[in-house]
Amino acid sequence: MSEKRSHFYVTTPIYYVNDQPHIGHAYTTILADVLANYHRLLDVPTHFLTGTDEHGQKVQQAADANGISPQEQCDQTVVRFEALWKRLEITNDDFIRTTEKRHTDVVQATLQELFDRDQIYRAEYAGWYCVGCERFYTEKDLNEGLCPECGRAVDSIVESNYFFRMSQYQDWLVEYIETHPEFIQPAFRANETLGFLKNQPLQDLCISRPKSRLAWGIELPFDRDFVTYVWFDALINYISAVGYRSDEGRFKDWWPCSCHLIGKDILTTHTVYWPTMLKAMGLEMPQSIFAHGWWLTGRTKMSKSLGNVVNPMEMIDRYGVDAFRYFLIAEMTLGQDASFTEEAFVKRYNSDLANDLGNVANRVLNMLSRYCDRRIPPAPTMAALEGEAAASEVLAAVEDAVAHSGDCIADMKLDGAVALIMTAVRSINVFLQERAPWGAAKEGRQADVEATLYVAADALQRCAALLHPIMPEKMVQLRAALGVNEVQPELEKIRCFGELESGVEIMQPDALFPRVEWKTVEKEVPVKKKKQEKAMEPKASEEGLVTFDQVMAVQLKTARIVEAEKIEGADKLLKLQVDLGSEKRQIVAGIALHYVPEALINQTVVVVVNLKPAKLRGVFSEGMLLAASSGDQLQLVSVGGDLPPGSAVK
Ligand code: MSP
Repeated sequence: MSEKRSHFYVTTPIYYVNDQPHIGHAYTTILADVLANYHRLLDVPTHFLTGTDEHGQKVQQAADANGISPQEQCDQTVVRFEALWKRLEITNDDFIRTTEKRHTDVVQATLQELFDRDQIYRAEYAGWYCVGCERFYTEKDLNEGLCPECGRAVDSIVESNYFFRMSQYQDWLVEYIETHPEFIQPAFRANETLGFLKNQPLQDLCISRPKSRLAWGIELPFDRDFVTYVWFDALINYISAVGYRSDEGRFKDWWPCSCHLIGKDILTTHTVYWPTMLKAMGLEMPQSIFAHGWWLTGRTKMSKSLGNVVNPMEMIDRYGVDAFRYFLIAEMTLGQDASFTEEAFVKRYNSDLANDLGNVANRVLNMLSRYCDRRIPPAPTMAALEGEAAASEVLAAVEDAVAHSGDCIADMKLDGAVALIMTAVRSINVFLQERAPWGAAKEGRQADVEATLYVAADALQRCAALLHPIMPEKMVQLRAALGVNEVQPELEKIRCFGELESGVEIMQPDALFPRVEWKTVEKEVPVKKKKQEKAMEPKASEEGLVTFDQVMAVQLKTARIVEAEKIEGADKLLKLQVDLGSEKRQIVAGIALHYVPEALINQTVVVVVNLKPAKLRGVFSEGMLLAASSGDQLQLVSVGGDLPPGSAVK
């Protein structure tokens, strides 16, 4: 595994308490939990913080709609988050609520200090305000008169307010981001922030709301007619929770934070507001801010109005906590969007968990019962295994997973770590098949049977330890079945072959991951849900019009063509390799009659990136280029200027 860190402090966004938690919230929290668990496995002192964002307009509006006070709204909703985290086996060390005194005190003290140092000033403001995003915009920011973030109508507003001198940090921030490549990840998100910072002068940040308009917030210590803007309040949770201004020793232990995990929707607040706030406070920057993509329902953005939001509790009820955590971690390539469908879930569950891991666990435990008197047999010596090709392969695959899964995690390639570990799991199955201990048992070759089963059991417990951060409950059961009773696995104990104690009694638990038949599930999924799914299918209305959400469901990005070649036997097709910033893709395009391959190299084109992959004339294609055509003329839609590949086209 990679170089050891001195400490690991990981955070999730603090979630708004305007509604119940959904799969998106569950995902970021599981991801943080997995990272925290891996660092505990590595014996790195770890601190994992999550919590709730309880002030601001969204919470006030939800309270009004429910006919309760904002504090009641918070108290009633926070328990849903806490219950879900408990159910999901989340091991956060702390849970912060922004209505707690330990937080509000710090926010007020920070505001007072910045005000005294003239980092905050009062001014008259005239401009535009988006209620949904709770953000101010200048005329120039608007997109055809609408909010540039969410596309909704904005209100004209004239107000006296307090402003943080964010603009003075623009040059510093650009330089900081450019000289600290690990600061904003993945790299294409750093480019997104740099694009934002370089294309316009950074404005000062309005950090107050007059109580006459919104009373639910932390009062400004220097003006009782105002409350604090919810983002200025919320971001401070990352330091108030670890002792900033209250326990300097503790603060020193954990700050700077190792990793702020966020969804891509809150990039600007975390990579522009937060660093400039910290700079003004004279504090160190977090080591990294990692923005992951969205979970989509099929190919559509999850939204309450579409009724397609996946409820984590339902999934856990049907498949168990561990399978749910496993799917989310294995299925999403960090940084990219990913699609959630129950059918894909069941497919991966059956292939990875029921067939591979579950099957090997059942086989090993059954055979230990049958042939080894329910005990771990004596360990064969390494010398005895030398020259045994099948055994060497298992040992090599497990060692590879032990040695390199940590590197994958340090690089935030969690799906890569899962793939390495599952390769090792599969190698145990292959090994058993080749060594056929049942045959050796029939022939009375007991020493062979025992050697085979020891190698398999030892490899299995090492894989189980590596999977523990993702599937804590089932992996504790599996390791216990193999006679390992420490709940928290340690990397040091699984580095080498032969740590499994011989002579220890094993247990035979129920099947870890019983197979699920999709056809049966499909029938059981309530009819209501099916109707919802049907309603979600993108369809043109009678007038041929599509909704805003349907348009937004098509993801367009800029891409640079890096290779282009003809496809043998297909006159109209070209095979292209394109650079999307965060990834390379192969796209087959029907443009061969209009372009010679060489002319395409380095052109920046527009690609539909969430098109279902397909094979065209047997060649795999992942995306579609946009082109304009008239008669027999065709021209690719291209983008001038120097936007980086992977820029969103909206
Ligand atoms: N309260 C702010 C964050 C303040 S942090 C100082 C907020 N809260 S939120 O409740 O809206 O949660 C947003 C976060 O939830 C996203 O950044 C992401 O982590 C997670 N997700 C919400 N929907 C999601 C998906 N569909 N997919 C993946 N994660 C998403 O913003």
